[in-house]
Amino acid sequence: MAIDQQLNARRDEARLGGGEKRIVSQHAKGKLTARERLELLLDPGSFEEFDMFVKHRATDFGMDKTHIPGDGVVTGWGTINGRKTFVFAQDFTVFGGSLSETHARKICKVQEMAMRNGAPIIGLQDSGGARIQEGVASLAGYTDVFQNNIKASGVVPQISVIMGPSAGGAVYSPALTDYIFMVRDSSYMFLTGPDVLKTVTNEVVTAEELGGAKTHTTKSSVADGAYDNDIEALAEIRRLFDFLPLNNRAGTPRRPFFDSHDRIDTSLDTLVPDNPNLPYDMHELVEKIADEGDFFEVQQDFAKNILCGFIRLEGQTIGVVANQPMVLAGCLDSDASRKAARHVRFCDAFDIPVLTLVDVPGFLPGVSQEHNGVIKNGAKLLYAYGEATVPKVTVITRKAYGGAYCVMAPKHLGADMNYAWPTAQIAVMGAKGAVEILHRKDLSDEEKTAAHIADYEEKFLSPFRAAELGYIDEVIKPQSTRRRISRAFALLADKIEEAPWKKHGNLPL
Ligand code: COA
Repeated sequence: MAIDQQLNARRDEARLGGGEKRIVSQHAKGKLTARERLELLLDPGSFEEFDMFVKHRATDFGMDKTHIPGDGVVTGWGTINGRKTFVFAQDFTVFGGSLSETHARKICKVQEMAMRNGAPIIGLQDSGGARIQEGVASLAGYTDVFQNNIKASGVVPQISVIMGPSAGGAVYSPALTDYIFMVRDSSYMFLTGPDVLKTVTNEVVTAEELGGAKTHTTKSSVADGAYDNDIEALAEIRRLFDFLPLNNRAGTPRRPFFDSHDRIDTSLDTLVPDNPNLPYDMHELVEKIADEGDFFEVQQDFAKNILCGFIRLEGQTIGVVANQPMVLAGCLDSDASRKAARHVRFCDAFDIPVLTLVDVPGFLPGVSQEHNGVIKNGAKLLYAYGEATVPKVTVITRKAYGGAYCVMAPKHLGADMNYAWPTAQIAVMGAKGAVEILHRKDLSDEEKTAAHIADYEEKFLSPFRAAELGYIDEVIKPQSTRRRISRAFALLADKIEEAPWKKHGNLPL
């Protein structure tokens, strides 16, 4: 056979993975193969593969007679809308995508190249876990991958997409990355599966209930988003990728935009209802501020009382954190604080400016909140904002009460520009609660109480006391919010803020 025919034959063999039969079975489960997935994720023709012919070195359990080129993972690099990224995709058709020593080496190679070359790494996970026939060698392989995940954290963005099983040790590489996305009904993640649970704890549960996409996006918050199928998931990863910088020194990407930076939106003047107890949808504000209304939300099904995600202003990526009055009146609680803290820290690590939209009546009261450590979880968000040195712009639309005012990126936590709408109420608490404490003796007298409430509202339930103290830089009209914020971020583009030297801080975990 001519030498190039030999090469083609070897390539064809490798591309077939575990063979036609297993590919058919993969498709029958509604899943694409590793290579089909990479084709959808990357720009057409941009994928360059590494280590296509790598084979495992195991000999026990008859493994010396079973070698499949590639060893269950397809690795390499390519581009997404022209920007480079490293990728690996586990191939379930080869030994169930299980991770051997050599499979791990292939992943480590792309991780190390990603760090050296300053490009993100995207891992498509579909694996039966550690290659059982290799014993501790496969566990060592996992740990090498984990160590690289930790090294790469804060250096290049790391994205995991769970597109099949991810059990036992396999869960920890995704858990160490920045984002985990799942595919509904065909992916699951757990440390110990339903069979073991039944034996050990007598709990009867399906794999889907235990660790499916719904569980991890609504209950555990392990996953940041879920999609209906492989195609949708990969299209959304491409969309997210466009918002992200390539590494921690590259700066946020700027894209052409087709929206005017000084677009006035008069509908925002009536967004906040006259009755301060009525909710409104904070999504509306985020979308009306954003270039072309494009908002990529993360963790949208968890702790819905806070919104986190990315928008663009004048083509530049901005991280958004916003209280959502539609859920729990926008109160902060343990889950919301943790969710937002992680988002702020991601943005700060990768130099993405942060916009905070505030309408928060306080921390959610409750025994379960206290017992679940709301003190420590609230402190996470406080810490995240306080340590973040990226440009920070805050807009208070309505309530900013008590401890929650202190947490939601006020001037005192180093926010660069603090705006308030005329409807803002910046105070220790609402009028009724305040009067009940300050004028307890007058509570039986309705007239006096009403007068006290009116007095308190006049003094404190406005943005002006805070503006007089310089805590609010400017009271702005809702309609001009996009213009004001865009100008503020443009001004802050060259901000330099040095933090004192330390090995690392001790974030309350
Ligand atoms: N090591 C080696 N081979 C594995 C494997 C592993 N961890 N997991 C799966 N495989 C192989 C299977 O032997 C099977 O090989 P075959 O096609 O030659 O028969 C192939 O991968 C497909 O697995 P199968 O069990 O038929 O697929 P499934 O869709 O029915 O089930 C799993 C998928 C993941 C639920 C099941 O394979 C499983 O339980 N694997 C072990 C999980 C585990 O405990 N891993 C160790 C924890 S770190």
